[in-house]
Order: sequence, then C-alpha cells, then structure tokens
Amino acid sequence: MTETPKLLIIDLGSQYTLVIERTLRELGYRSVVLSPKRADEWLASGRDVRGIILSGGNKSVYDADAPALPRELFALGVPLLGICYGMQWLAHAKGGTVRPARGKREYGDTSITVLSAQGPLAKTPAKQPVWASHGDSVTKLPKGFSVLAKTKDGANAAMWNGRDDAHAVWGLQFHPEVTHTKYGKTMLKNFIAATRLSRDWKPEDLISSIQADIVREVGAKKVIFGMSGGVDSTTLGAALAPVLRKRLLGIAIDGGNLRENELAEIKRHAKAAGVTLKVIDAREEFLRALGKTINAEEKRAAFKRVYTSIFIREAKKFGASYVLQGTLAPDLIESGATGGAVIKSHHNVGLTMDGLIQLHPFGSLFKYEVRALAKRLELPETVFKREPFPGPGLFVRVVGTPVTAQALEVVRFADARVREIFKRHPELADVAQTVVAYLGVHTVGVKGDARVYGGAIAVRAIRTLDFMTASGVHLSEQAENEIQQSLIQHESIVRVFFDPTDKPPGTTEFE
Ligand code: XMP
Repeated sequence: MTETPKLLIIDLGSQYTLVIERTLRELGYRSVVLSPKRADEWLASGRDVRGIILSGGNKSVYDADAPALPRELFALGVPLLGICYGMQWLAHAKGGTVRPARGKREYGDTSITVLSAQGPLAKTPAKQPVWASHGDSVTKLPKGFSVLAKTKDGANAAMWNGRDDAHAVWGLQFHPEVTHTKYGKTMLKNFIAATRLSRDWKPEDLISSIQADIVREVGAKKVIFGMSGGVDSTTLGAALAPVLRKRLLGIAIDGGNLRENELAEIKRHAKAAGVTLKVIDAREEFLRALGKTINAEEKRAAFKRVYTSIFIREAKKFGASYVLQGTLAPDLIESGATGGAVIKSHHNVGLTMDGLIQLHPFGSLFKYEVRALAKRLELPETVFKREPFPGPGLFVRVVGTPVTAQALEVVRFADARVREIFKRHPELADVAQTVVAYLGVHTVGVKGDARVYGGAIAVRAIRTLDFMTASGVHLSEQAENEIQQSLIQHESIVRVFFDPTDKPPGTTEFE
C-alpha cells in the first residue's frame, strides 16, 4: 500500500458516505473519505486524484452552516459525481435552482424513468427502483446541463453537463450506494469507468498494510484489546498477534451480559487467533453500575464506564500503552464520528482511556470485509460466520425493565433456544442477525391452571449487508411455533412476540 487512493469521496454529512467507500471497494477500488476541509488540503497537496464523489448530507444549500466545497473542483479535469445533497451543491454552484420539495420530504423506495442511459446510468433499465432521502430538489438545472432521469412525479432525478469523461459532472438525486437502489452498484461502476482507473484493492494487501501501520505506530510498546470472540475482535487479534506476539494481550470481560456458552467460545476463538487471553469476572461490578435504569444510553454509559475502568486496570497490570479497538465504519458513522448526525453512542467510540492511546485499525471497514479477512487468516467458520453481537450484550436485550441477574438469565435462556431453532431451519441460514429481547411489559398468562404475570420475549431477525438498512424477516408459522413452545417452558415467560419491522424505521436492537 504505497500509493494513496485516487478516488476521493467528500463527506458532506450523509449517513451513507462510508457505504459509498465500501461499494467502491467491493468493486475492487480504494477510495478516501474526507471532510470538505481535508479534501481542500488533499487537493492542494497535489496528490493524484482521478475522480471525486460528493456524498449526500443533512443540510440545505441555503443553510448558513451548509458544507462548502472548493469551486476549483470543476477545474481539476476529473469526473465528478454528486449524490443527493452533492447533486444539489453542484446545481447551486453552477447557477441552477434548488428548492424545498413541494409537499413532504421524499424518503425511502421510489422509482425513476431514465431519459438518457448515459454516464452512471449506462446499461441500466429505463424504469428502475431507487432509494432516496431528501427535502430539497434541483428545480432548474444549471446552464449547459441536461436531465438524464426523472422521478415519477416529474422532478429531476439525474443530471449531466454534457462534457467528455474528464470534464463530466453528474448528479444523482437518489442514493446509488444503498442496496435498495437496484442498479446503484452498476452506476458507481460506470462512474469508475469514466475515471479510467485500474483495480487496486485486495484483502491480503489490507492485512499487511494494517500490520505495517500498527507496528510502525506502537514500536516496542505493549498493546491490549478487548476480546469478545466476535468476528471483529478475533480477526483483529489474528491479524496482529503474528507481528506483536508477546506484546499483545486479549482481555475477555464477563459482565453477566454474555450468551450461553459464550465464554468457552471466546477462549476457543482466542486460541485459534493465537492470542493470549485473560478472563475477568466482573458480573457484580456491572450489575451494581447499571442500577435501576431502563434507558439504553444510560446502560451503554454505565457499561462503558465499568468496561473502561477494568480495561485501564488491566492495561496498567500488563504495562500497555495502546488499546486496539475493533471499531468498524458503521460504528463510526452511527456515532457521528464522520460528521453525520449522531444516532447512538457505541461503547467503543470516543473513549478516553487514561493515557492509553486508542487505535481503530478497522475504522474504514465493513462487516463483510472483516469476514473476508477472517477467512483469509484461516480462522474457524464459527468466527467469520458468527453473528454480530453488541458490546453491551444482553444488557441492551433487557428492555423496559431494570437489568437484573434474573432478567439476564431469562433472556440468556430464550436467546439460546431461539438460536438452536434457527439452526434447524435452512431458510433462516442467511439471517444476518437475530435479536432476542426480554420486554419489561407486565403481561398476564395462564400456566397450569393459574393466572401468572410475567415478562414477554421479543424475537427479531434481519437480513442486511451493511446494517445501515435491513429487512425484517417473517418467520414461518412452524418456526414461530417451535420458538413459542420452547420459550414458554421457562417459568417466567408467558408471551412471545415476533418483530419483522424493516430498518429504517426499526433499528436492529430494541434497546
Ligand atoms: P442498530 O440497533 O443500530 O444496530 O440497527 C446495528 C448493529 O450494531 C449493533 N449494536 C451495537 N454494537 N455496541 C455495539 O458494539 C452497541 O451499543 C450497539 N448497539 C447496536 C447491533 O447489534 C447491530 O449489529
């Protein structure tokens, strides 16, 4: 990895900016995501840039604090693609008119009619589904621009300045990077074709570049990291154990938030990754810190606090100067670390760790890329096929009622039974994540001959590529029956709910 990427993505504050980067990488191309200010510096440094994509954003071009871009962008002689807000910025900068959409914001699945299958729209159908999310629209195109596609309401969905590839400026009002835009990947591929770049991304290059970066950074110092046994931390450990050797220590913290048999699995995965592991039992410490709160953000904060203090304690014992975090691009996006709106505070973003320096070697990767690295590192299938599980674990799976040892026991039981049943259903093999939560509703049921009051269990499964958007899974009647029959064996479970809500609006977790 000697050269810097030649594709520039300027982040104007969209939730989906890193999804553009991921999609380009999936197509075999590296890119760099920069804020407008950093992009200015990047361009001023004279680096070789062959194509620029302007992301969407949550502002209007008329907002006082709207992200500003250098107008010299047009003088670079490289193809430009503006997505959503990016298109509005291009139109506005070139003298077109941007207006708030009549009626309400356009949000979600819609469709476009292609008038000219040119540039990004080449080789895509005349009528096609796209995914859009915007308030403003380009109502009058700039001089010299023509419309390439219209929405079903006749609004401008795509535009072009009619120039040759090197000077072409395209705008798409919808999001090609979101999988709901059926031909979005073809559109980005078409854009790359205009840059005349050759493919430059391979997983094996990534492993050696991560190793080289970390060794350069830490030198002879010691490094500690949280080993959850999940794909991110196990892969991180496996990538770095061979180069850090005895200077690397994995810490597994049992806070009472783990699933059935999870500690044994963590140990197995640490062994496979070649990581030295230390297990800490902190169950009482966590329950005390969580107290009576039912607020997910407070639970995350308490989790973060205790987790951090245990970490610092252990880092001191080990003599570590650095902490490795398995943070992925979506965590950074959703925590607002890339400039988008803050959606939630993930437990591993923005931690200050008492003088310990934090490193996020996977900060620009997506889950599927980490899985590819895990395969490449020959980790067992249980690692790269393992479902994601949130850091605070079962603490965010007890909802609407304080976290107690008893509630954790119920949700741990339910989660294990649901996962066993899922394994018996081949139609559920492609589920990306299953969430089993204990709902603190005080609901009535009949057990034996008596009326009993107890909690309810919610079961949710999603299919998704990147966890930014997801489809809720409708289970078969048989699967639902098996789950219900199995769960009500527990004396505290009187009711089971199934939740197939899509994301958006339903997030993966209930919180
Ligand atoms: P949501 O609920 O936002 O979740 O759709 C997206 C993905 O993130 C996981 N998640 C978390 N992971 N700490 C984590 O490490 C957290 O606090 C957290 N909350 C959600 C969630 O399980 C899903 O995979």
